[in-house]
Amino acid sequence: MNAIVFLGGGRITAALVAGLRRAARKDWTCGRIIVHDRNPGKARALASRFAVDAEPSLSRALEQAGMLIVAVRPNDVVPLLDATGPIRIGTACVSLAAGVPLRVLRRASGRRVAWARAMPSPACRTGRGLTALVFDRAFPRRERQRVRDLFARMGAVVEIPEREFDAFTVVYSTSQGYHALAARMRAARKLGLSPRCAFLAAAHGLAEGVRALEENPGATEKLLAEAATPGGVAAEVMRVLCAGGYDGLVERAYRAGLLRARRMRT
Ligand SMILES: NC(=O)c1ccc[n+]([C@@H]2O[C@H](COP(=O)([O-])OP(=O)(O)OC[C@H]3O[C@@H](n4cnc5c(N)ncnc54)[C@H](OP(=O)(O)O)[C@@H]3O)[C@@H](O)[C@H]2O)c1
Repeated sequence: MNAIVFLGGGRITAALVAGLRRAARKDWTCGRIIVHDRNPGKARALASRFAVDAEPSLSRALEQAGMLIVAVRPNDVVPLLDATGPIRIGTACVSLAAGVPLRVLRRASGRRVAWARAMPSPACRTGRGLTALVFDRAFPRRERQRVRDLFARMGAVVEIPEREFDAFTVVYSTSQGYHALAARMRAARKLGLSPRCAFLAAAHGLAEGVRALEENPGATEKLLAEAATPGGVAAEVMRVLCAGGYDGLVERAYRAGLLRARRMRT
């Protein structure tokens, strides 16, 4: 009755159970983890890799849940909640589904169930992820702390108002880090750098920017001025990026992502 139950055993569940098991190897016990997926083979594969239990029956999975984590694709959330029937009072219900608001979760599960939404990323696997959380007003205080603690084992946690959730989902994706790095590396290779050197130069350029801004929040302009001597090489690169519409392109991509998230509201 007190297990963490994942409904859906796909990509994000695999990353989260890996992150939780990693945290449990250190100094913490998260208790029993159960994974239910409509493809029993997926849950079994996770069971063999991460010492979690695969439960092929939805109703048996639900009976054992102290915390329920819904990790199916957004369009599958409402059909899944139709299939669960009434959820036991006291179960801490958390949805990972992008774009699906608390009111839709409440409507689909019966108004007595309070929900949290969480937006983690696969980086939770390494213990250095970031998760945004928002809670229904009725979500019990003690259970809130349980949810916060769970995600905090896998990285930083921020609580944000629900109106910011879609924008957070758009902006926080490790895919953008991979994409930016890959584009910089491809360009570096074309300038003749070896693969290793292309990675180092491209990755350090990004990572050191992040670290410097973490230590000096709000100092973007000052740090840019320090790193790009007027009339120099870095300033020329920045000039071409800006003239080519780099900022506008990022904004357009984010707006497209936001539109997609809003269309997921059922
Ligand atoms: N991937 C990420 O980085 C990430 C990050 C944060 C949040 N999320 C959110 O997490 C959710 C899952 O994403 P994902 O990338 O892990 O998707 P995924 O890899 O497709 O995994 C979802 C799993 O749930 C199964 N499923 C669907 N309906 C089900 C049902 N009624 N009962 C049991 N299992 C069911 C799917 O089976 P089928 O393959 O047969 O459909 C699939 O195995 C999404 O809502 C997404 O917005 C994902």
